[in-house]
Amino acid sequence: TSVLKEKASFGIGAAIKTSLMSENGYTQTVTKHFSQITAEWEMKMDAIWTSSTNYQWAGADKLVDFAIQNDLDVHGHTLVWYKSFPGWFKNSGYDSTAFEDHVKAYINTVVGRYKGKIISWDVANEIFNDNGSLRITDCPVYATFKDPIAFYGRCFQYAHEADPDAKLFYNDYSVVIAPGKRNAIKNMVQRFKNEGIPIHGIGDQFHYRINNDKSTLRNGLNDMASTGLLVHISELDIVMNVNKSDSYVFTEAEEKKQSDMYKHIAESYAALPAQQKFAISLWGVTDKHTWLTGSWHPKEYPLLFDQSYQPKEAYKGFLSGL
Ligand code: XIL
Repeated sequence: TSVLKEKASFGIGAAIKTSLMSENGYTQTVTKHFSQITAEWEMKMDAIWTSSTNYQWAGADKLVDFAIQNDLDVHGHTLVWYKSFPGWFKNSGYDSTAFEDHVKAYINTVVGRYKGKIISWDVANEIFNDNGSLRITDCPVYATFKDPIAFYGRCFQYAHEADPDAKLFYNDYSVVIAPGKRNAIKNMVQRFKNEGIPIHGIGDQFHYRINNDKSTLRNGLNDMASTGLLVHISELDIVMNVNKSDSYVFTEAEEKKQSDMYKHIAESYAALPAQQKFAISLWGVTDKHTWLTGSWHPKEYPLLFDQSYQPKEAYKGFLSGL
């Protein structure tokens, strides 16, 4: 088969946006090759929660309906992420009790709305720095919690109460390449297990580059699996233009390197224990709309399909590794 989802023994996901769904080739590529979707933006707090009593469901609902119609699973992303707190909430001046009451209501409302329709949630995203310390300064209110990890643990509990069947994940970036962060995550998982807090998986976003060290990625994945939890590659893309050059044109050698990297990642993931495999999710469908272009990489080609929705060398490498 030349179709990703048919070859893989686990989910193959893509981050999508409703604003692109009318573009020719977009939904066709998603439904042909992928078995799962993540909302690239529309299920984040700042997309849904417009004021403490107002929830904006149009985008998230449209994605969930699309998934149901096309037999795709939905991975929910993300409930508590400091970067997606809406302005009104960030600037509310709430103390830790009011902050948590609001987060609890939000989790209950959102997870409850999609109970049975969303199979999994990133409950918390990016709570650690790469050295393993907590990101306290990024969200001042965390400093008011005596024990911020306990707060996050309660967030997992709130999500579990709202949908007992949903698989609950902790998600972060650089997990496989930053040992300090990985250890902090493993310690948190152990603590949650000891305390009976429902956590089912951990995700590494996998925003990496063609020149990352391959064995480091594989060893890190195996170390994530040592927790016994599900392992999710949650936002995969592989940067080619590592120097962020405005005049970048990729060479055949770089194209091959990217393809080899995708193959290596697919193989490393496929080699994990069967019951711990969940999904590899790409952070986008086509290079045309990658989040990297226009933000911090002027010219970037990190995904599996080119600007015209044709499968790239990267696609062939990835497929061959599955
Ligand atoms: C990014 C999206 O791609 C952008 O479109 C959005 O506006 C900002 O967020 N880590 C994450 C993702 O967990 O949610 C981020 O997605 C990329 C980094």
